[in-house]
Amino acid sequence: RLLIIDFGSQVTQLIARRLRELNVYCEIHPYQNVTNDFLTNFAPKAVILSGGPDSVTREGSPRAPDSLFEMGIPVLGICYGQQTMMTQLGGKVLRGDGTAEFGRAYVTPTSKLTLLEGWFLTDREQVWMSHGDHVSEIAPGFQVFGTSPNAPFAVTADVARNFYAVQFHPEVHHTPNGAKLYENFVRIAGFTGDWTMGAYREEAIRLIREQVGDKQVICGLSGGVDSSVAAALLHEAVGDQLTCVFVDHGLLRQNEAEEVVTMFRDHMNLHVIHAEEQELFLGELEGVSDPETKRKIIGKLFIDVFQKYANGIDGAEFLAQGTLYPDVIESVSFSGGPSVTIKSHHNVGGLPEKMGLKLVEPLRELFKDEVRVLGAELGLPPSFIGRHPFPGPGLAIRCPGEITRAKLDILRKADAVYIDQIRKHGLYDDIWQAFVAILPVRTVGVMGDGRTYDYACALRAVTSVDGMTADYYPFSHDFLGETATRIINEVPGINRVTYDITSKPPGTIEWE
Ligand code: XMP
Repeated sequence: RLLIIDFGSQVTQLIARRLRELNVYCEIHPYQNVTNDFLTNFAPKAVILSGGPDSVTREGSPRAPDSLFEMGIPVLGICYGQQTMMTQLGGKVLRGDGTAEFGRAYVTPTSKLTLLEGWFLTDREQVWMSHGDHVSEIAPGFQVFGTSPNAPFAVTADVARNFYAVQFHPEVHHTPNGAKLYENFVRIAGFTGDWTMGAYREEAIRLIREQVGDKQVICGLSGGVDSSVAAALLHEAVGDQLTCVFVDHGLLRQNEAEEVVTMFRDHMNLHVIHAEEQELFLGELEGVSDPETKRKIIGKLFIDVFQKYANGIDGAEFLAQGTLYPDVIESVSFSGGPSVTIKSHHNVGGLPEKMGLKLVEPLRELFKDEVRVLGAELGLPPSFIGRHPFPGPGLAIRCPGEITRAKLDILRKADAVYIDQIRKHGLYDDIWQAFVAILPVRTVGVMGDGRTYDYACALRAVTSVDGMTADYYPFSHDFLGETATRIINEVPGINRVTYDITSKPPGTIEWE
């Protein structure tokens, strides 16, 4: 296995992700925990030193254990990792002085190196830099293999000892050939690339058992991919010690509650509490039309309800959540930042502290697509794993203006027809998210020689990678026409269908 020593870079997890893509097993450990003894016990086959925010020129700044460089194993230092490696091995690092580099840079080769095999097919290679300090003198035994205008030691290596050091970040998307560098490194280290998501599952189960022991765990199940996979994994790890709470706020899609509960209770044998709290939520939402007020009411009730059911579970000490790595990065880099709140996305962030529960987050290191692979590995059906995201406040934010039961019923029916159309035309997996919003406006129509005065609805379908930016899906006119006809014919209460062609930005995906 490979050890990543984390010096606190925002993108350390991306290194792990690149290695998983190469089917290499790795673990990330914070530098504070990696002592000489730790290294001896862990017995890594290779080590990667991550980047980090500190400056090696500062006294007391983090270091790798000295024994690392005596182990005879390949070491790759990235950014801060490169700088501490140089310092520890006898080179020099200087502070700033106008050579800081942030963003795109180009590295040109100075001689051939196995680590860079497949690079420099053109004369230079784009890389992503993010450093204030720079190496001013390389350590004895090192040689330069690549330079950039502001980093004369962009790539250096002591080939005899298999020590490699790069100033840039090969793990990020903006170093387009970065994956190749990792591939070369793991090959040099002798990894065969036979590790799979099946092995991740085993390891995750071992860690959950270690953390939870014989205590009880509760898990909020939303029916979304993340919480579903987390619940399935937890169940495999601790069996009956897990209780899932599925909060039914009356704002779910057609048949959704039954589908989720049946699947987890009957097919996967999980202990699921179906918290039927429709009356409570819809009652509190009566007469409310402001989107943020809706979110706040739902968020607060969600916590109250969850707490009520969790209190009934004897000895619950842990709360399991399907937090993914992008959630972790976002909360680190944006919390307290100067950004404006567009929507206060409903979450239960404050819940564990309030209830005195400890968190179990077995998906914290994974990305959405990896979670889907793990879900398949755990036996969740493909139709479940491939589901479009669904927001916590549910249909409340797809019903602009006041929410009434009558509108929700109409919305559910229209949405079901629309999704059925999308599936029938084989488009579901090409679309990131699709849904209907019922508009707070009634319009006049004519059906069978009679006048109608019913609601208008908007169809929404977007492509996206992460929900942060999105574009509308270019349906054919035939598809749109057929879908509009079906909705108007099959859903009493709607007599007009529109298609929302706003991208994000300037729009958002949901209507509220
Ligand atoms: P927007 O509308 O902000 O949506 O472009 C981006 C993604 O986030 C989902 N979304 C939410 N999810 N609570 C959630 O859990 C919310 O309050 C919320 N608002 C939007 C939305 O469905 C889309 O996937």
